[in-house]
Amino acid sequence: MEIRASSDSDLTRISDLETTSFGPSEGPIITVLVNKLLDDPTAQPRISLAACEIERLTGHILFTNAKIEGAPQEISASILAPLAVLPERQRAGIGKRLVTQGLKRLAEEHTDLVFVLGHPGYYPRFGFSPAGSQGLEAPYPIPRKNADAWMVLFLNSKLAGKIQGRVLCSNVLAQPEYWRE
Ligand SMILES: CC(C)(COP(=O)(O)OP(=O)(O)OC[C@H]1O[C@@H](n2cnc3c(N)ncnc32)[C@H](O)[C@@H]1OP(=O)(O)O)[C@@H](O)C(=O)NCCC(=O)NCCS
Repeated sequence: MEIRASSDSDLTRISDLETTSFGPSEGPIITVLVNKLLDDPTAQPRISLAACEIERLTGHILFTNAKIEGAPQEISASILAPLAVLPERQRAGIGKRLVTQGLKRLAEEHTDLVFVLGHPGYYPRFGFSPAGSQGLEAPYPIPRKNADAWMVLFLNSKLAGKIQGRVLCSNVLAQPEYWRE
């Protein structure tokens, strides 16, 4: 399996993957989201990685730019959304490799913090922990019952506990429907 930066020629295959992985109700919404995010200048810098197995695209991950309201300009942040692996290739470590590779690239670009709204049983294995209780609010309020799904990872460990405020995301992601979890 190869993990590589996605290109424009992958767009159709990425859309098919999101639709299949997220299922018939959520899939089409996520597909539109990804297409719009890849086109959104306010989502830059972004990292879009594809997992490929013998010319087949089996996974995709996207990280887009974020900011923290009131934080110094030099603090750089990113949001992981979405991550998808083809159902028949899940639990084979593809998601893990996509997350790990993405975080490695973000660290190389000196990104300080990474956020995700996702399964609280999955992301802590990469070092993510609940963000709200650390004073880092999501772009839109997360329902209390899902509070643990909003997580942060400090790639720059020196900043842990020192940055607080509301996270601002790209224009495309800044819609309440993407923050209901
Ligand atoms: C979540 C997802 C990306 C994981 O990808 P993957 O390639 O199967 O993940 P990995 O092989 O790296 O890891 C498998 C582990 O993740 C766990 N996992 C998978 N989905 C999970 C979920 N929804 N909640 C908690 N853990 C989950 C598995 O139980 C397995 O755990 P184990 O290692 O203890 O057995 C994949 O299941 C997927 O695409 N799901 C549908 C789309 C989706 O929900 N994406 C949003 C992610 S927030």
